[in-house]
Amino acid sequence: MFGFGDMIEKLKKDPKTIVFTEGNDPRILEASSRLLASSFLHPILLGNPEEIEAVAEKEGFNIRGAEIIDPTNYDRMDEMVELFCELRKSKGVTPEEAKKILSGANYFGTMLVKMGVADSLLGGATYSTADTVRPALQLIKTKPGNSIVSSCFILVRPSATGENEVLAMADCAINIKPTADELVEIAGETAECAKIFGIDPKVAFLSYSTLGSGKGEDVDKMREATEKAKAKYPNLAIDGELQFDAAVAPRVARTKCPNSEVAGHANTFIFPDINAGNIGYKVAQRMGNFEAYGPILLGLNASINDLSRGCNGLEVYSMAIITAALA
Ligand SMILES: CC(C)(COP(=O)(O)OP(=O)(O)OC[C@H]1O[C@@H](n2cnc3c(N)ncnc32)[C@H](O)[C@@H]1OP(=O)(O)O)[C@@H](O)C(=O)NCCC(=O)NCCS
Repeated sequence: MFGFGDMIEKLKKDPKTIVFTEGNDPRILEASSRLLASSFLHPILLGNPEEIEAVAEKEGFNIRGAEIIDPTNYDRMDEMVELFCELRKSKGVTPEEAKKILSGANYFGTMLVKMGVADSLLGGATYSTADTVRPALQLIKTKPGNSIVSSCFILVRPSATGENEVLAMADCAINIKPTADELVEIAGETAECAKIFGIDPKVAFLSYSTLGSGKGEDVDKMREATEKAKAKYPNLAIDGELQFDAAVAPRVARTKCPNSEVAGHANTFIFPDINAGNIGYKVAQRMGNFEAYGPILLGLNASINDLSRGCNGLEVYSMAIITAALA
């Protein structure tokens, strides 16, 4: 069962720091004031201190105790520039170019994580997903053993009985047209992430076809991914290719694929591409009354996440807890 309680307890035992790249955004300041009211997660706000304090005062958020770092006046800038040039030496980046790039809070904040000044980062309240994620791809890189960074959303539908419905969906935000092998990796990472949120993963590789009922390149891709994923993760419940109704509706599953242990009960959905994934999670969120948490980046060597530009202060607070708890 998903709840923030476990994550907050984990952070209370081992408090973390989180960088907010958009330190003067009122939604970030609202989340920071909430975080500062307890002591399990310490916010680091990037931006001009006077400007940040003025916005906080105007909006009525108490941010006393927050650390504010101004990228234009950072005492470890020389060290940061040197490390940045080292990390990007294959691209031939000069110190002058590095200084210019690091004046952007997304690159500067990512370097704070790389240097160990912060444990995690949350950005994207005003930056696009691509601009938030690109510095992480370039500087933090994939975890050993992973070939790509991907992402998933955790979807939670609160219920009056307290038995929240919790699902995982991937990749809705990063990889535009993943190959079959990349889908295998996305499925493995998503299943691991799903477990952290209390899901016992039953993984469905989604398609417009169920076990050969339709034909086409994307059907072949999802079938190949399913076979490879079954071989790679023998302890996971996996099936595909499945249509969404066969994946979730027991009655449809009994007709279309009666022998599947996943069909009818899937809770971890792997989409063929970002079009399907991004549209799919938003249909669940906007028309199915699910709360959507993510994108949670998977396969990255540090905990860095992206906000939706349409987020509110409460969503920033929730994503900050998730991001830090995964650090
Ligand atoms: C993630 C994304 C931004 C990368 O795009 P990009 O920066 O143009 O990609 P590039 O090919 O120029 O690669 C930039 C760097 O990231 C790395 N990279 C790109 N995709 C990667 C991935 N999935 N995993 C790991 N590294 C990746 C590249 O290897 C490259 O590294 P290098 O500079 O050290 O050589 C792109 O895939 C994208 O736009 N995805 C969709 C984002 C989106 O709009 N989502 C919907 C809203 S939620």
